[in-house]
Amino acid sequence: SSHSVTVYWGSLINPKTLTCYDACPNSLIAVSSVGNILWTAHDVGPSQLSHILVQHGCPDAHIVRLNEGQFLMPGFIDTHTHAAQVPIVGTGYGLELLKWLNELVFPCETKFKDKEYAEEVYPLVVKRFIASGTTTCCYYGSLHLEATNVLATAAHSLGQRALIGKCNMDKHTPGDESDYIECSAAVSIEHTHAFIHHVHSLSPGPSEDPKNPLIYPILTPRFALSCSDDLLKRLQHVATSHPHLHIQTHISENPKEVEEVKKRFGCDYAEVYNKYGLLRHNTILGHAVYLNDKEIDLIVEKKAGVSHCPISNFNLKSGVAPIGKYLDRGVKVGLGTDVSGGFSSSMLDAMRDASIASTVLALQNNPSDAPEQENKFANQQLPIATLLYLATLGGAEVCALEHHIGSLDRGKSFDALIVDLHHEAVSDLKEMLGRFIFAGDNRNISAVYVQGKLVGGTSHCA
Ligand code: GUN
Ligand code: ZN
Repeated sequence: SSHSVTVYWGSLINPKTLTCYDACPNSLIAVSSVGNILWTAHDVGPSQLSHILVQHGCPDAHIVRLNEGQFLMPGFIDTHTHAAQVPIVGTGYGLELLKWLNELVFPCETKFKDKEYAEEVYPLVVKRFIASGTTTCCYYGSLHLEATNVLATAAHSLGQRALIGKCNMDKHTPGDESDYIECSAAVSIEHTHAFIHHVHSLSPGPSEDPKNPLIYPILTPRFALSCSDDLLKRLQHVATSHPHLHIQTHISENPKEVEEVKKRFGCDYAEVYNKYGLLRHNTILGHAVYLNDKEIDLIVEKKAGVSHCPISNFNLKSGVAPIGKYLDRGVKVGLGTDVSGGFSSSMLDAMRDASIASTVLALQNNPSDAPEQENKFANQQLPIATLLYLATLGGAEVCALEHHIGSLDRGKSFDALIVDLHHEAVSDLKEMLGRFIFAGDNRNISAVYVQGKLVGGTSHCA
């Protein structure tokens, strides 16, 4: 009915393509009672408003008028982060991957064997990511079934859209002597099935379409080195029998790690995942700092996506991922915070560090040698539009959810942020976006909507 439509009226920033914004100071977005975008209109003045509402059959729509200095944009999509590492976020500076995993990460995740600990920590974790404007989050839990069930329940009840995985790991990483591994490949798979069942059993919320749930299970082999050959075979079987099941893992993050993979499997890193049927259109590959050309071709062919995690890649001295090159080659790319490899749960920080990473490569490779070309990103400082794209629509593509989320287009879910620059507002919308990305923080996020429902932001009372 007409009463159940909400119309947001004001400035809109939408990542349409890699090179242009959909930035309009007077847009309308109509949202249905179940949180889907019904229609949008641009450059609408006060006199045209009622005419347009009547035209669309909703004269009594509830109007939310954005104030000066506010704009609406798609919510952030964090394509790679570790919920079970939030307790050690901000530590680990200077350690490299394998040593850091053994000394800090595994002891931290071990604590989640205690369900009560998970019940204490995980709701705070989800709130933390929502407050950062992350409307869809790809979480790694620990290896524990019960605790990861708690994480799924927390995200569900707090209203965040999330892809959540229980880690599969039955093999020690080099140098690890802890007991933080699963007791067998069979148990790992059994618990994975139980976790998927738990996620599917979460009852849909009041405005939730049962065919379009907010919480998705995601198959989460931690990385090649933590999976036995037996486990990889069993994961292949799970993946093959569930073609819609998402998959997330790590790839080519650190030179020592890449060397260990080569030593054990005798082939390229991407080839390991491909051999076990884990490289496909709904696979999210974290980091991807050191891919060779053959691996890039394979990833493009399989339509898998890369989660660029620059905060972590700097913090753990992993390297600088050539994201511009990946974009040029047609790889799907999104951004991940990779807590606690990264020290921030804010996608704004991921965008800033993605910018710095691209700038470092541009400086090292002397971009003046290769004249700037439109839509060519290798060895160039990424434009603001591209940073926005990576944090939103690019992430949606990496999650294979680009038909539902990632931009404020008709038919998609209303997963959105109202950003408020307060007194720092400037008249040019593109400039406002730049201010938010480079100088903003959670205090500028006044509303966080997921599927049309207010779930966070400074205007939201928990
Ligand atoms: N590789 C395997 N596990 C992890 C992890 O927890 N974090 C990061 N950054 N890399 C990994
Ligand atoms: Zn990670």
